[in-house]
Amino acid sequence: MTSAFATVRTPSPEALAAAVRVLKAGGLVGVPTETVYGLAADAGSDDAVARLYAVKRRPRINPLIVHVADAEAARALVAPDPRFDALTARFWPGPLTLVMRRAENAPVSALALAGLDTIAVRAPAHPTAQALLAAFGALVAPSANPSGRASPTTATDVARDFGDAADLVLDGGRTALGVESTVVDLTVDPPALLRPGALARAEIEAVIGPLAAPAESDAPKSPGRLARHYAPRRARLRLEATTPARDEAFLGFGPGVYATLNLSPAGDLAQAAANLFRYLRALDDSGYARIAVAPIPETGLGEALNDRLRRAAAREP
Ligand code: TXA
Ligand code: MG
Repeated sequence: MTSAFATVRTPSPEALAAAVRVLKAGGLVGVPTETVYGLAADAGSDDAVARLYAVKRRPRINPLIVHVADAEAARALVAPDPRFDALTARFWPGPLTLVMRRAENAPVSALALAGLDTIAVRAPAHPTAQALLAAFGALVAPSANPSGRASPTTATDVARDFGDAADLVLDGGRTALGVESTVVDLTVDPPALLRPGALARAEIEAVIGPLAAPAESDAPKSPGRLARHYAPRRARLRLEATTPARDEAFLGFGPGVYATLNLSPAGDLAQAAANLFRYLRALDDSGYARIAVAPIPETGLGEALNDRLRRAAAREP
């Protein structure tokens, strides 16, 4: 049995030292990043990673992102690539995950990579994540939600979703960006956008040129791309709705609309991203069976917002 809530601590030096002890013992720590909260485990430990997959109920074919403090730490794990250098110089630490060829003898659990010869690496920008990575070393950290559910943007979300299956949760406040990192595959030419995210496509393309759509055969590699993912527990979503039906909550976007909750009254996509998972969870927890969602433009961060909404609305896995 798990208790209702995990232990939540503000990230004091003592709490960070406790987190390092938990990780060294093979435990799991909820960590704030600038995108969403992650559930972190020692990237080098098969036992810790096995526990992480079990607690998340994550399919073992779905590889994990290896989080590092900076590009130098990542270079020990991946094969050299000038595009990696250009992108990390510009965007790290930050919400960009790069899929790379694995360096031989990279000290990463084979389980975490789902047997692939590639590694996804990311350096998160949040000071608490940075402090933990500096003190401990490489961590795998999937979004701290049960597989398939909305991602967590507060420590309370994590504590509620996992109970004491998470050994400790560091509370870094509400996450600033609210949607996950953008995942780009640099092992293919041209590079492919595997998951739109908190760094807009155009910013990446300005550095390395046009990004391709992922090959269809890549689908199992990136189950953040499964048809149904990020879904509320109870509520059904109806997208591109201009007016709600009587029995629907209305998740609005932009000025002048009546809405149960408005992702951004100013029509600002960054603000909408920061609110998306939080508002979906809030409406779901309030007991609405149906949520109508206003149309969101496909530009900039809208690509990631619409991606998450489409998967959250899909009916079948
Ligand atoms: O913002 C984020 O990226 C958050 C925070 C906690 O850092 N993490 C996150 O992790 O979203 P997760 O596990 O929920 O999503 C990782 C995505 C999945 O879609 C996974 O399939 C993909 O990255 N991925 C990981 N390793 C991969 C690889 N070697 N090749 C292709 N896709 C990979
Ligand atoms: Mg996830």
